[in-house]
Amino acid sequence: MEKILVTGGTGYIGSHTIIELLNKGYEIDIVDNLYNSKITVLDKIEQICGERPGFYQVDLRDKEELNDVFKRKKYNLVMHFAGLKAVGESVENPLKYYENNVGGTVNLLESMEENDVKKIVFSSSATVYGEQDTPRYDESMPTGMGITNPYGETKHIIEEMLKDVAESDSEFQAVILRYFNPVGNHPSGLIGEDPNDIPNNLMPIIMKVSRGEIKELSVYGDDYPTPDGSGIRDYIHVVDLAKGHVAAIDRMKPGVLIYNLGTGKGTSVFEMIEAFDKASGKKLPYKVVGRRAGDLAEMYADPSKAEKELGWKTELTVEDAMRDTMSYLNNL
Ligand SMILES: NC(=O)c1ccc[n+]([C@@H]2O[C@H](COP(=O)([O-])OP(=O)(O)OC[C@H]3O[C@@H](n4cnc5c(N)ncnc54)[C@H](O)[C@@H]3O)[C@@H](O)[C@H]2O)c1
Repeated sequence: MEKILVTGGTGYIGSHTIIELLNKGYEIDIVDNLYNSKITVLDKIEQICGERPGFYQVDLRDKEELNDVFKRKKYNLVMHFAGLKAVGESVENPLKYYENNVGGTVNLLESMEENDVKKIVFSSSATVYGEQDTPRYDESMPTGMGITNPYGETKHIIEEMLKDVAESDSEFQAVILRYFNPVGNHPSGLIGEDPNDIPNNLMPIIMKVSRGEIKELSVYGDDYPTPDGSGIRDYIHVVDLAKGHVAAIDRMKPGVLIYNLGTGKGTSVFEMIEAFDKASGKKLPYKVVGRRAGDLAEMYADPSKAEKELGWKTELTVEDAMRDTMSYLNNL
């Protein structure tokens, strides 16, 4: 069976993807520096799958240690989740983001080259699209223009790096997955998003408000040209997202493939609050504040390319995500 090295595998999306990969019989090792995750995730994965992935506490920026990992085993594929993702922090401290995300990926690609590993699946983001004329984003749209923060720039730069490496090496195979807005967690409630960093995204903030760690949710703008005035995004259940990665592996071929992973449906901030209230049986405290710089009114995926080529589409809803979030919160 194929051996996969998963960078950032103890993190939110990585851990959910590992569960799907283990369920398919892949052999998994993780590289993570535990900057934004906890080692106890491994126990939870074992509890869910009956199998424990290998683990190396290594920082991708440490080239020597990273190379040692590649020397121990011949990997068929790398899934690259490791990266910093707090948009606001990236504006405050851009070099930290370029150094970690871009620098770490350069090291990773060098180690792959030195150890003859030719396949990589990369966690990109819908943020690479910047702002387009329509709210429905598809893979043919231009990228790299109008990105409003250094975090998004690092995703765009890494995408370009992967295309350049593929140009230089005819055996190199990359899949770039552009995530929309991942939410929810494994239905067991055993693992989920538990950021050490300051969350910028709606769901982690909702979770912190519901636990009393933040007083109230700030809704950034209720005067957008959307039906209820709040911003609209495409919230994809992380288990669906994880399954998208498994589907992508089977389609890999030399060159670079790019897919949106989203539901194709937009949900407003007020609709998200309402769905959370229903699942929790309580009213989440919130207040409307001014728009946040760089936020778009409405953005959702055109996921038809992934459906056609990967045979993958989402099956879970925002309601499922809220139910699973509640079981995770109740377990914390
Ligand atoms: N969660 C989202 O909303 C979202 C959306 C689009 C794209 N993404 C991307 O998906 C990937 C995974 O996101 P996530 O939500 O699971 O984040 P996460 O923070 O939960 O997981 C990332 C993991 O990478 C590790 N890491 C960071 N820098 C590292 C380094 N230099 N060396 C080793 N390990 C390192 C962290 O400790 C963490 O465990 C990231 O690349 C992120 O940018 C996330």
